[in-house]
Parts: sequence; structure tokens; C-alpha cells
Amino acid sequence: MASASQRVVLITGCSSGIGLRIAVLLAKDEQKRYHVIATMRDLKKKDKLVQAAGDAFGNTLTLQALDVCSDDSVRQCISRVKDRHIDILINNAGVGLLGPVESISLDQMKMVFETNFFGTVRMIKEIMPDMKRRRAGHIIVMSSVMGMQGVVFNDVYTASKFAIEGFCESLAVQLLKFNVKLSLIEPGPVHTEFEAKMMEEVAKMEFPGADADTVRYFKDVYMPSSIDIFEAMGQTPDDIAKCTKKVIESSNPRFRNLTNSLYTPIVAMKYADETGGLSVHTFYNLLFNFGSLMHITMNILKCLTCSCLRRRTISPD
Ligand SMILES: NC(=O)c1ccc[n+]([C@@H]2O[C@H](COP(=O)([O-])OP(=O)(O)OC[C@H]3O[C@@H](n4cnc5c(N)ncnc54)[C@H](OP(=O)(O)O)[C@@H]3O)[C@@H](O)[C@H]2O)c1
Repeated sequence: MASASQRVVLITGCSSGIGLRIAVLLAKDEQKRYHVIATMRDLKKKDKLVQAAGDAFGNTLTLQALDVCSDDSVRQCISRVKDRHIDILINNAGVGLLGPVESISLDQMKMVFETNFFGTVRMIKEIMPDMKRRRAGHIIVMSSVMGMQGVVFNDVYTASKFAIEGFCESLAVQLLKFNVKLSLIEPGPVHTEFEAKMMEEVAKMEFPGADADTVRYFKDVYMPSSIDIFEAMGQTPDDIAKCTKKVIESSNPRFRNLTNSLYTPIVAMKYADETGGLSVHTFYNLLFNFGSLMHITMNILKCLTCSCLRRRTISPD
């Protein structure tokens, strides 16, 4: 159980990747400032987290089942928290979806929105009223660079992150009146199971309904450059965990937190041209006209951005 001086942090999606690393980093805080309620939808997947948490497990870290897509699961989990008191909610659970829109069913698309958008909204609706009543709390939402900039063949995933960004941008204003903070974490590519799961899905895809040219652009043009980008610009889940910890420890946390400074020009480009043409044509040219140049550039970047030279995480201060 949390001591009076500890801040209670509830995190969704802790079976792997970013959620797992945030849970472990906070639970192992040297000053023991946090009591972490790490949640996952399937407790059979707990071993990796338990092992990584070590001595913290059962002390500063406890485990609970929580499926962000289920009202009952969310209610049950929160009702088990002492006095429903959660100081920091970290909405991390998410799923990806990649491929030509023609070959993705509406049910698959709805599942992405059910998790990435409605899952986060469900969590906030359950926990926010208590935070407002107490005039204290911090809500963190794991968004993405793709919550600000569309990326070809990531249409639906990007839409789900844009949706949650719009929701948060609106809500943040009201919450300020109640002294409740809201922060978006916006990573670029991160090496987690997310990437592996999507590659696995793509390998199984048969692309029903998509024409041959589109399938070729996806498999032979988009996929190789996506792999290049992950290799050259990818961060680790630990990078994102450290950035998230800085955000929750800041006395004046930023609303937007881009974790990878290599993406700053892409975001700047979007806001530099209100017609949107600059972004659309730049991405078009990078993918279809300068593919080989981009491959070479990414390889140079890979060499230049080895860990000693790369400034991987932003400082919210
Ligand atoms: N990796 C990247 O490149 C990247 C970049 C930007 C943003 N992000 C965002 O970062 C967050 C974490 O992703 P990750 O990279 O750490 O991927 P990950 O390793 O695949 O982790 C995703 C987590 O979400 C959980 N999850 C999925 N559906 C859930 C549900 N209905 N209820 C509860 N938990 C659920 C997964 O649980 P199961 O094990 O049960 O599936 C898993 O624990 C996501 O929101 C993602 O959109 C990732």
C-alpha cells in the first residue's frame, strides 16, 4: 500500500514496451516517491514486468488487471484503489495498424479507435472526477509524432492519435481551472514489441481489395524506408520512460512533449505552411522521388546518431 508521502501512479499497458519501462523506472525511484499500480489486460503476461521490477514488486509496484476496452474491467480496477486516490494516470496502452486502407476492415479500424481513443477516454472519465474534486492530479497520454503529422499507410493509427490529441487539447483548458495537469508524450519510432507486432501483421497480410500498384508501393517503397527510419531514428522504451518521469517531476509540466528532437523540423514544417501543401509534397517526394537518397541519408544518420552523438530525449525544462 502507498505511504502518505508517496504519489500513486496508475499505468495502463504494462505487459511490455514503454508502459513496462515507465512502471519499473518509477517503482525503482531511489527516494521511493511513487507507488506504482502497473496494469495489463492479461495477467498471464506479468513475468517480464515482475522480473524487471525485482525487489520493487510487492513494495513500490503492485499489479492489477485492466483492459482499457472494458467498462467493467476499468471500474473494477479503480474501485480496488484505496479511496480511488490516483495522483498520476499514465494512459499508455495502445495498438498499431499499418497497410493500405482498402485492405483493412472497418472492424479492425474500430478496434484501433476502441483502444487508442475510447480506451484513453474511458480511463480519464473514470479517474478525472476524483482529481477535479481534489483539485490535484496529472494525466499523461502516450500519443505519438503521428498525433501531429500524418504518415502514409498509417492512416487509421494516425487518425486515432489525432483524435486523442484533439480531445486532450480541448480538455486541458478546463482541467487547468481545477489544477489538474494534462500532458501529451509524443514519441517518434521506439523499439518495442509494437514495431515487431506490426511487422508480423504485415507479413501475414494478403491485401484484399488493394490494387497491385498500391501493394507494391506499400511493400517495396514504404516498408523499406520505414525500417530505415526505425533503425536510424528509433529510441528505446527507456528513453521514453525517462522523458515521462521528467514530465511528471516538472513543477510546470509542458502540454506537448516531443521525445525525439530529430522530429522537430517535421512538426515545424506542418505549422510553417497553413495550406498543408509543404508537408504533403515533402513526404511525397521523400517517398516516391528521392527514395534512394533517403535510404543513403538514413544510413548516414544511423552512423552519425550512434548513442554518443544523439540527443535522444527532450528536457521539459
Ligand atoms: N513503439 C513505437 O514506435 C511508438 C511510437 C509512438 C507512440 N507509441 C505509443 O506508445 C504506447 C505503448 O506502445 P509500445 O511501443 O510500448 O508497444 P507495446 O510493447 O506493444 O505495448 C503496448 C501495450 O498496450 C497494451 N494493450 C493493448 N491493448 C490493450 C487493452 N485493450 N487494454 C490494456 N492494455 C492494452 C499491450 O498489452 P498486450 O500485451 O496484452 O497486447 C501492451 O502492454 C502506445 O500507445 C503506442 O501508440 C509507440
